[in-house]
Amino acid sequence: MADLKKLSKVSSLAGSVEVPGDKSISHRAVMFGAIADGKTEISNFLMGADCLSTVSCFRKMGVAIDIQEGLVTVEGKGLDGLEEPSEILDVGNSGTTTRLMMGILAGTDFHSCIIGDESIAKRPMSRVTNPLKLMGATIDGRENGQYTPLAIRGNNLNGINYESPVASAQVKSAILLAGLRTNQEETIVTEPHKSRDHTERMLRAFGVKVKEDERSASVIGGQNLKATNIFVPGDISSAAFFLVAGAIVPNSEILLRNVGINPTRTGILDVLKMMGASIEIIPQENQSFEPIADILIKSSSLKGTTISGDLIPKLIDEIPVIALLATQAEGDTIIKDASELKVKETNRIDTVVGELTKIGANIKATDDGMVITGKSNLLGNATVSSHGDHRIGMMLAIASCITEQPINLQDATAIDVSYPNFFDHLSVLSK
Ligand code: S3P
Repeated sequence: MADLKKLSKVSSLAGSVEVPGDKSISHRAVMFGAIADGKTEISNFLMGADCLSTVSCFRKMGVAIDIQEGLVTVEGKGLDGLEEPSEILDVGNSGTTTRLMMGILAGTDFHSCIIGDESIAKRPMSRVTNPLKLMGATIDGRENGQYTPLAIRGNNLNGINYESPVASAQVKSAILLAGLRTNQEETIVTEPHKSRDHTERMLRAFGVKVKEDERSASVIGGQNLKATNIFVPGDISSAAFFLVAGAIVPNSEILLRNVGINPTRTGILDVLKMMGASIEIIPQENQSFEPIADILIKSSSLKGTTISGDLIPKLIDEIPVIALLATQAEGDTIIKDASELKVKETNRIDTVVGELTKIGANIKATDDGMVITGKSNLLGNATVSSHGDHRIGMMLAIASCITEQPINLQDATAIDVSYPNFFDHLSVLSK
């Protein structure tokens, strides 16, 4: 069968790698660079399929974007400078492209259409289209504007004071970006729990005033972005796979270099500590508006824990690999308040529970998360699938490092979405 990868146990993992640039920050750097005045240079840009979808969409709106070996140069067109695209904007598998770009398109003076792949077509868009419509944009889509394909007619926008029902940086960012297009009005977004704050930090780097408190962020419309150079730190969501690998593969020691440790993203580090992992965080000097560290992880015995509430948005993308980690911890690990997992690239409660069960984990789905009972001897000897979801694919590849028998991984190419050199790094570390 095409795209089937046979993966086997390793005796240990050792050495050091630098994971690729952060996906969330790479998307934002291109988008904000595109609507800024002047030239933005982005180094350590993630050359994954999702970020390349963002590049391709903005090129279709007349933005010149040059890519050379991880250095991306964006010739900004200013807040009013994007051009009406003559083609449909194809976001591929990328929810971040879809939702943040809608926030930008809402305030343009033109019409645009967005489509994506099969997975995008199932992901809820009304969480973004509803507030953008309240601000004055005209947006329609399948099933009453809920799903792609979407059609957007930009408009003059008004500010809103919006209480988001979900903690979502994509929703928050779309509203703040639209908020920049109002006539000096204030736009405020409040969330049930604070989500990642890369937009707030990066807008400030582009010279925009953003107010923030515990659960809300706001901007005043009419502020222009001034181009700046951006260094993209390593993606902690990619590092998470090797952090877990280092913790669960016996006799391992892995150093992950230059990882972004923005406190709204470091839930994985909290969980590793709560479970008793041997982990050392070594902060690195840098000029960026995002903190960076080297992280050293060594294998150790682990115990189960409970993960819920405010912690969930700080590790939402890491839950698949945390579930694997929990299979190697003594006792129960309970993950709750995480129903957002159902609307990620796949329904990650179903895909995580289904695939880990196939290889011998003791894991049960709940309404808003899962319960994992360890420590399990993972047998492997199964054909598993990424279901087209990059993070499920990488979690299963890490699982294969400890399964007694090899596993066959279907659709491993999905991993290119966020970590194109994942298997090279896995093989460099494998002993
Ligand atoms: C992202 C926010 C998160 C995350 C996604 C990237 C972002 O989604 O799961 O991978 O870059 O803003 P939500 O904001 O919908 O939780």
